[in-house]
Amino acid sequence: MSYRVVPLPLPKDLVCKASTEVLIEELNSRFNHSELSIVKSDDRYELHLREAVMSHVETVVEDLCRDSRYDATILCSFLSTIKEQSSYGLSGDKRVYVGYNAERKVEGRKEKETRRGRHFYTNGASFDELANLLPEPYINQIHCGDSEQVLGQLPANCVDLIFTSPPYNFGLGYDAQEDSDQWQNYFDKLFAILDECVRVLKYGGRLAINIQPLYSDYIPSHHMISKKLMDAKLIWKGEILWEKNNYNCKYTAWGSWKSPSNPYLKYTWEFIEVFCKGTLQNPVTASMQTSVRTISRNGSLGNGLSLPKRT
Ligand SMILES: C[S@@+](CC[C@H](N)C(=O)[O-])C[C@H]1O[C@@H](n2cnc3c(N)ncnc32)[C@H](O)[C@@H]1O
Repeated sequence: MSYRVVPLPLPKDLVCKASTEVLIEELNSRFNHSELSIVKSDDRYELHLREAVMSHVETVVEDLCRDSRYDATILCSFLSTIKEQSSYGLSGDKRVYVGYNAERKVEGRKEKETRRGRHFYTNGASFDELANLLPEPYINQIHCGDSEQVLGQLPANCVDLIFTSPPYNFGLGYDAQEDSDQWQNYFDKLFAILDECVRVLKYGGRLAINIQPLYSDYIPSHHMISKKLMDAKLIWKGEILWEKNNYNCKYTAWGSWKSPSNPYLKYTWEFIEVFCKGTLQNPVTASMQTSVRTISRNGSLGNGLSLPKRT
């Protein structure tokens, strides 16, 4: 059993004194040893702490203070040493001193990775690693149009980052577009645009897509889009929850009121799914990292130039 071990400071003249030993024995008898105890080590005393109910500690100290056989200095030191210890408070005044921050460790991560590979769903991907230049008319320009058509005019592998928020098909009143299409039509169109996104993205490029499912229709758009992009052999890098503290979720506590047979689940956030094409390491930033390492090792910029020497 593990404890937090802390010295119990006592004036020198009290150490090893018969009356001190009697008091310590009495204190030890008042607590469960698996929770806390005082242990003598050479010519000093240690507190072995696992957990303590503070009200009980205080009651014991008060009780023993009333008994003239016991030295109040020792009791005060006992109480204050326990109080000084940082701890994790559990319900009421129970304090826990060890084990509260223990994490279960993942075993053999490297071995598993070698045996199973990572992102198995991208096996067989054959993306061209050669990037193309973005055509001049598209540099620093905003193009208004149907994404499928605009992207269709671009060469493959010419975009570093796509950050997009497609319509959610909630029935919002956009100027130029119907936002309450049949779901199949909606996904057909969206997936055609995503195919274009995958095509124009460079090897190592990233696609971040902000989406909100329509909960009331039970359409998990974020999962369907993720499945689509994983089928296209992009690597799912992760998911960001964009906490919006949505007003309509303020009544979460009323979730099952009037609807106990089918309670509402409420979400205050939107999703941002992030994908990588071909590799998780972006080649451009990876090469910058290498140069930074080179610089930090020998002051050389790796291209025949050197950083000026510090004076
Ligand atoms: C969820 S909103 C995102 C708005 C965006 N974040 C912004 O601030 O402009 C979806 C947008 O996609 C537009 N949209 C819908 N269909 C489109 C299409 N086929 N091509 C390009 N944009 C489209 C809608 O008009 C709407 O402005």
